[in-house]
Amino acid sequence: MDFETTADIRIPKNPLERVIGQDEAVRISRIVAKQKRHLLLVGAPGTGKSMIARAIASILPPPTLEVSVLHNPERPERPVLSIRNFEMLKREFQEEKSFGTPLHPYEVPEFVAEKLGFRCRRCGELSTPRLLYCPSCGADKADRGTAPFGNLVPNQQNKKEGIAVQATRLGEDGKQETLLYERTETDGIIVLTVEDLKKRKAAEAKKLRKIIVPLTRSTFVQVVGNNETELLGDVRHDPYGSHPEIGTPAYQRVVAGALHESHEGVLYIDEMTTLGDSQKFLLTAMQEKKFPITGRNPNSAGSIVRVENVPCDFILVGAMNINDLPSLSPALRSRIRGSGYEIVLNTYIEDTPENQEKMASFVAQEIQNDARIPHASKKAVDLIIEESRKICKSTENKSGLTLRLRTLSGIIRLAGDFASVEEASLIEPTHIQLAIKQSKSAEEQLEEKYGNIWSAGMADYGARAKKGAETA
Ligand SMILES: Nc1ncnc2c1ncn2[C@@H]1O[C@H](COP(=O)(O)OP(=O)(O)O)[C@@H](O)[C@H]1O
Ligand SMILES: [Mg+2]
Repeated sequence: MDFETTADIRIPKNPLERVIGQDEAVRISRIVAKQKRHLLLVGAPGTGKSMIARAIASILPPPTLEVSVLHNPERPERPVLSIRNFEMLKREFQEEKSFGTPLHPYEVPEFVAEKLGFRCRRCGELSTPRLLYCPSCGADKADRGTAPFGNLVPNQQNKKEGIAVQATRLGEDGKQETLLYERTETDGIIVLTVEDLKKRKAAEAKKLRKIIVPLTRSTFVQVVGNNETELLGDVRHDPYGSHPEIGTPAYQRVVAGALHESHEGVLYIDEMTTLGDSQKFLLTAMQEKKFPITGRNPNSAGSIVRVENVPCDFILVGAMNINDLPSLSPALRSRIRGSGYEIVLNTYIEDTPENQEKMASFVAQEIQNDARIPHASKKAVDLIIEESRKICKSTENKSGLTLRLRTLSGIIRLAGDFASVEEASLIEPTHIQLAIKQSKSAEEQLEEKYGNIWSAGMADYGARAKKGAETA
């Protein structure tokens, strides 16, 4: 490759194409994204498992569905599931939120107009209900002294319910029909049938909604370790035991899990085997593509709350070390293989000119990702490639270029920091050398300083520590 500095190296836009030396995994990843399959990535630390999972998520189309729960007035402990696409969200937003028919004060029965404050009880003149005295005859409009309907006064105490008068009329079919006349906030009158009232109540219940998986969300959701509620969702505890006035209503305490949040996206589980018991729940979720949300703590008030069938149609990307393979639940593993792929990542590539170019691209990418360090000269890149050879020799005992790239990534960053501090315009070989030295573990540094004294007494410890550093 012809370049003077890493600034001359073109970096692919597609994040999958930035993955180096894992051609098979990249090829399969494209299929996984397109066909919505599952993927198990098995490989050494720092070889690109997380990077590949993120890249798959980044090429997926954006999510199309929002998931929310609604208050269920009949059974608050069973919130109603609601799934809406963008069209529905738009329509519901635009939909007329008012119910009933507006009427002119002339069109309502006189007693209604009086009770709602429009009509003077003495002279019958109409005026705005804001005027307490009739502008025509001066009578107190609220004076019920002569009112024929005694106590049927509008409910003025409860502002929220507005001012309303109930009445009945004979419908066209000869049946009695109940009507409710209301004074509106804008000093008009509307009349509502029982049907209108029901619709309004349903619409108001819909407003009691909690969005648990928003429409605008990341297609990449990561889970590390065994946190059951994080994976499966939860219903939070209510210290007031769902007391209707002081407690938090059940639907508001529903929390989605990672497997719900990754609906239409990638659920990335690092160190799959640390999932423990949750592996069987994950398996169910993958089979059903739905998983209930319920309070996970049996002693909590949340445990009686349950939302069934919450969608969780995700692409599972699991990552693990080769050594852990036997601890993975066989059922889960066969599920992944049944509808997906298992890939073992490479730990090194052959030392060819073509692959050296890939290493140079990797250096350029790392520098671009960091954004705070200068570009590297060709000589500095050559030194990184040399280090890649050395690491390959010491970890694989083979000649080639290492793909344990997190280690190299660390060296590049460190060298970049040294160059930045010096205000050098490029990362040069001297910076790389310093970084390689600095990046060695404490044990390696001790070994270099004190030679055999330490390495003799601590050989075993050193080997273990080295292994630990690699898996970090
Ligand atoms: N195959 C690769 N191609 C390019 N960069 C890589 C590759 N593998 C690792 N890296 C670099 O190392 C970093 C750590 O890799 P990561 O994907 O977290 O490894 P893993 O998840 O396998 O432990 C990445 O962010 C990336 O910068
Ligand atoms: Mg990782």
